[in-house]
Amino acid sequence: MSRLRDPSEHVFELTGCFGIRLDERREGDLQAFYDRCRDYFELVTGQPPSPTEAADLLAALPKGKTRDDKFVIGLFDAPGHLVGVLDVIRDFPKPREWYLGLLLFEPTLRGQKLGDRVYHRLEEWVAAQGGSAVHLIVEEVNPRALRFWQRMGFEVRGMGKRTLRGTESVFIRMTRELAPRPEPTGTFIPSWLSAWLKGGGAARG
Ligand SMILES: CC(C)(COP(=O)(O)OP(=O)(O)OC[C@H]1O[C@@H](n2cnc3c(N)ncnc32)[C@H](O)[C@@H]1OP(=O)(O)O)[C@@H](O)C(=O)NCCC(=O)NCCS
Repeated sequence: MSRLRDPSEHVFELTGCFGIRLDERREGDLQAFYDRCRDYFELVTGQPPSPTEAADLLAALPKGKTRDDKFVIGLFDAPGHLVGVLDVIRDFPKPREWYLGLLLFEPTLRGQKLGDRVYHRLEEWVAAQGGSAVHLIVEEVNPRALRFWQRMGFEVRGMGKRTLRGTESVFIRMTRELAPRPEPTGTFIPSWLSAWLKGGGAARG
């Protein structure tokens, strides 16, 4: 049975933006957000977001992972509109490694360094939990995202092919190795850690 989370659970705060861990109760908001990001879906899949895109993101889990290891974070502007989404999986594909499935902002907010700030907060949190690396893939048709991740310190580790909605696409594997960090700082860490502990993270050690 899925555990519903406190919908007001702030997992991090930045100036002008805060993140909340999303669950099924936010599916409608997430789907509406995806519909505003149609350009991204058309770029990477050749098609607009499907009507079940949000439900699929919330439900998708790599083999062997539980929902406690999956963090779909909604990014909200100061008035409380959903303007971005971040999806990360803990201990995947190996313990202490994290997989970043998605970072997406709505078109009007891109190119304003929000991605840079959000990614760095995420990295602090991952490092504070002992994470040693972050992995992701970028579609070859998305060179701006490739440049963005290179700026964030990711290195190209390989390429592959997959079929997305019936169309074959080439993707690039990227990894950023994280140096161990001492003590966490800032508002992000205590709130994310407390959210994680509330969610049962401590029990898993
Ligand atoms: C990639 C993304 C998360 C970066 O966040 P951001 O806040 O726009 O990034 P920043 O302002 O810190 O940096 C701007 C850089 O983002 C990248 N970028 C990617 N798509 C972009 C877009 N549609 N508009 C503006 N910048 C974009 C570029 O590298 C850009 O730098 P450039 O002007 O030199 O090309 C954001 O642009 C986005 O949501 N893009 C669409 C979704 C996407 O491609 N996600 C990555 C999937 S792997």
